[in-house]
Amino acid sequence: MSDSPIIGNSPRVTIVGAGRVGSTLAQRIAEKNLADVVLLDIVAGMPQGLALDLLEARGIESHNRQINGTNNYADTANSNIVVITAGFPRKPGMSRDDLLKVNAQIVVNAAKNAIAHSPNAIFIVVTNPLDVMTYLTWQTTGLPRNRVMGMAGVLDSARFETFVALELGVLPADVKAMVLGSHGDLMVPLSRYATVNGIPITELLSQKTIDDLVARTRNGGAEIVELMQTGGAFFAPASATSIMVQSILLNESRLLPMATYLQGEYGLNDVVIGVPCLLGNEGIKKIVEVNINDQERAALQTSAESVRGNITRALEILQET
Ligand code: LAC
Repeated sequence: MSDSPIIGNSPRVTIVGAGRVGSTLAQRIAEKNLADVVLLDIVAGMPQGLALDLLEARGIESHNRQINGTNNYADTANSNIVVITAGFPRKPGMSRDDLLKVNAQIVVNAAKNAIAHSPNAIFIVVTNPLDVMTYLTWQTTGLPRNRVMGMAGVLDSARFETFVALELGVLPADVKAMVLGSHGDLMVPLSRYATVNGIPITELLSQKTIDDLVARTRNGGAEIVELMQTGGAFFAPASATSIMVQSILLNESRLLPMATYLQGEYGLNDVVIGVPCLLGNEGIKKIVEVNINDQERAALQTSAESVRGNITRALEILQET
């Protein structure tokens, strides 16, 4: 595409927020040799230290990507992709929605500053509550909806695939699943569409077992927060984000679930929620509408209404501050 934001062989990815998700993502992107990375955080010295540490591993890991740490958005100029991970993670007992108040302003500021320096970027949002933060980023940047998306479906699907693989004792990469809806307790795993190398899991597992695996998937993030007590998951979230970055930079057109602004698809309007999308160098090339049954449609609707309520709350919070 002539208007592709990807120039030459050295694309640049900015990661806003150098916490555990952000710094692990920087490592994945550099070690997969996908792009130069700018790691930005408000804490002085921290992103610079992490970047230097990652640079010192370059020879061992045999890549030659630049990794810069900064506290200044001017250093992020002309990024092809901006990933927003800034914000607070959950504490034990908190839901992702409890983070709305603390993270809304952080994400709006990040989006505003990043778009000012990288007007051609594609934005991937990771901060929770994911669907609401993706909406705020889309609204703040003023970008067309295909260039703003939220990472959650890939992570939730990976968790479901992991639990299915563990249950059946098969190679995790052979399990394929699609989890839609919000990244929260109301996510919608499409178990009818989950397969092991093409064989539907409904042929391999009882409905009761599938229901248990779905429940564990819904609780997947909280299970890790409860175990760790300090912070939440970051290895799998970083992996999930890195394959979205890869699909964009290499124009792979992977069909992945992600949070996007809907305008009538799946019967939903003016709300951000996870649905299957084709992802390539323009961002979202296509929102794919698959057949879902009445029960799945109702679950998606409930999920969307919950996000819609939180978007309204977030906009109110932002008006007050
Ligand atoms: C989780 C966080 C990233 O699901 O929301 O682990």
